[in-house]
Amino acid sequence: MPIPELAERFGTPLYVYDASAISRRIADLQAFDVIRYAQKANSNLAILDFMLRRNVVVDAVSAGEIRRAQAAGFSGASQPPGIVYTADIFDRDALDIVVSDHIPVNAGSLDMIEQLGDRAPGRNIMLRINPGFGHGHSQKTNTGGEQSKHGIWHGRLGDALLLADRCGLGITGLHMHIGSGSDLEHLAQVCSAMESAARTVGRTVMTISAGGGLPIAYRATDTDVDIDAYFSLWDATRKRLESEFGHRVTLEIEPGRYLVAESGYLIAEIRAVKRTAGKTFYLVDAGFNNLARPILYGAYHPMSVCRTDADEPGLLDVVVGGPLCESGDIFTQEEGGFVRTRSLPAARVGDFLVIERAGAYGAVMASNYNSKPFAAEVLVEQDRCHLIRDRQSYEDLMRGERIPAR
Ligand code: LLP
Repeated sequence: MPIPELAERFGTPLYVYDASAISRRIADLQAFDVIRYAQKANSNLAILDFMLRRNVVVDAVSAGEIRRAQAAGFSGASQPPGIVYTADIFDRDALDIVVSDHIPVNAGSLDMIEQLGDRAPGRNIMLRINPGFGHGHSQKTNTGGEQSKHGIWHGRLGDALLLADRCGLGITGLHMHIGSGSDLEHLAQVCSAMESAARTVGRTVMTISAGGGLPIAYRATDTDVDIDAYFSLWDATRKRLESEFGHRVTLEIEPGRYLVAESGYLIAEIRAVKRTAGKTFYLVDAGFNNLARPILYGAYHPMSVCRTDADEPGLLDVVVGGPLCESGDIFTQEEGGFVRTRSLPAARVGDFLVIERAGAYGAVMASNYNSKPFAAEVLVEQDRCHLIRDRQSYEDLMRGERIPAR
């Protein structure tokens, strides 16, 4: 799709998702019995619908994510469940919906077990276990170990079992997710932790979930993970449990980033080329209100420039920043806020900057800071462009706010 055409038709900043990239990643994971998409990575209804049509089910972490999944056509009652609620708390809405709509629960705290047991005794649940270690691309995305608020601490599994029993809840599954953007070395350690937890629970365990966390290649030097090797480790774990329990054990995987990151492009227009004593800045019309990963984690995203004229482009070391009234609104930064330069083609105002691999944790983490409306989103499927989210209007931006009557 020619970028100037997309920009002309839908405006900028604009998120564009390539459906074929999502399909390829779904295909990679077919060996797992169940692919459960962590919709927090990108929960646009059209993306959820795309998953539904490919037999991918979803994870929900809030009442809102349950409602989205239901709006896209998923149900908690299908087999395997179309929706599972995974969290460390129930807010009151989530508890009401889980109870009334029979949404299966993956409980990350003893309080969740007690609260669900009070309202809906007789149900089966899964337990999310913190195996005592974790790893992510940033300390902020590490979800295991003592520093983490997530999951039931492995040493308290016995207490969780007693409590569930007292509350009349059955434990039919176990789940471990040690962090986002982890690596195979750490992910592989989860298998033995899972095996030992499952042996503690015993043969009521019908499902084990490997969680998400699969990394993707953001930098040219990053390599793709060896999914076959990863599956083999989990499959061997599952098989040992099957022979111990004497029944089949379903193996789930719960990726977010892996399925959608590479599909997404954030298209922005260069609106100023600013030179200071030592640096050149490309200032574009997208900021951390659209893509927060660089300011939050110092995350690296590949970038390219689409020029609107045919001049021979030379390369330039530039800093890429957005429109926001905040110094941290820089896409080329490292963790800690250190500004870096990127080698990009010489460009002018009116050229386009494309931030790549932005399909996961991009649009979903957007904000209205500086009263910037949410960007439009487009899904490209079989050479057709579908507008899957309107650019937010200024009216919508202020919706719900009230000036008190005096
Ligand atoms: N399952 C659970 C229980 C999770 O908490 C998460 C991510 C996932 C699955 C999916 O992880 P993934 O496969 O995408 O790595 N905003 C951060 C990522 C936060 C992830 C939170 N939980 C980022 O932009 O890198």
